[in-house]
Amino acid sequence: MDSLILDSNTWLLVLTGAGVSAESGVPTFRGMSGLWEDQPVEAVASPEGFRKDPALVWRFYSERRKAAAAVHPNPGHEALVAWERHLGDRFLLATQNVDGLHTRAGSQRVVEMHGNLFKTRCSHCERPPFEDATVYPAGAVPECDACGKLLRPHIVWFGEYLDPADIQRIEDFSLRAATSGGRFVFLAAGTSGAVYPAAGIVDQVRKAGGKTWLVNLDPAENSNRFEHRIVGKSGEVLPTLAKLA
Ligand code: APR
Repeated sequence: MDSLILDSNTWLLVLTGAGVSAESGVPTFRGMSGLWEDQPVEAVASPEGFRKDPALVWRFYSERRKAAAAVHPNPGHEALVAWERHLGDRFLLATQNVDGLHTRAGSQRVVEMHGNLFKTRCSHCERPPFEDATVYPAGAVPECDACGKLLRPHIVWFGEYLDPADIQRIEDFSLRAATSGGRFVFLAAGTSGAVYPAAGIVDQVRKAGGKTWLVNLDPAENSNRFEHRIVGKSGEVLPTLAKLA
C-alpha cells in the first residue's frame, strides 16, 4: 500500500464524510441502512420540509442529537488529530459531518461545511447560531428568545448554500498550499462523492497541481478523479497510512 508522507514540506487538506463516523456507530446517509433509506430527505432536511412540518424536522434532529451524544470518536478521528499536531498550520480539515466527533477527538483546524447538530439558530432574525444539545420532546418547536419566530437546527439543508466564509477558508488554504513551493496533498475519507461543492474539491486540488488520495469502503461517485485510492475502513486505514517525517 502507498504511504502518505507528511513532512515539513507537506500541506494537507482533508475532507471527511459520514463514513469516518460509521465505526463510532453514526449511520451514514446513503447505501444499506443509510439515514436517507428510512427518511424522506425533502421532509426532514430541506427549507420546504421545515416550513411544512417543523415539529417533524425537530423530531428528526433531536433523535440525531441523542444518538450522536451517545457515541465516541474512533481511531480514524484520532489519526487526523495526530496529523494536525504534526503539520500545524499546514493542515486543514473540512468535514461534511455535523456530529461534532472531529472536535471532540481534539481536531482544531476544522471547517464544518454542513453545520453542526449541537447548534441552533433562528429561522428569521440575525441572532448568531448558538450551542444547543437539547433533545426536544415530540411535537415541540422551539422559538427564538429575540424575535419569537421558529428556531431551526444549524444545518445546511438540501437546496441551501454553504456559508461563503467556510468556502473561502478552504480556498485560502488551497491557494497558500499551492503557492508554498511545498507539496500540496488532498485526502478524502468516508464520503460517497455525491454532494457538491465538497465532491468537487478533488478537481480544484488537481488543477492546482496537488496529489489526491481517497480512503473509502465502497467506490465513490468521483473515485476515478483520485490518483491514490484505498478501499477500506477509515478507522483501520488512517492510523497506519501516514509516515510522519
Ligand atoms: N470507512 C470508510 N468509508 C466508509 C465507512 C468506513 N468505516 N463506512 C462507510 N463508508 C463510505 C461508504 O462507502 C460511502 O461511500 O462512506 C461513504 C458515505 O457516503 P454518504 O452516506 O453518502 O455520506 P457523505 O458522503 O458524507 O454525504 C454527503 O450528503 O446527505 C448529505 O449533508 C449530508 O453531509 C452529507 C452529504
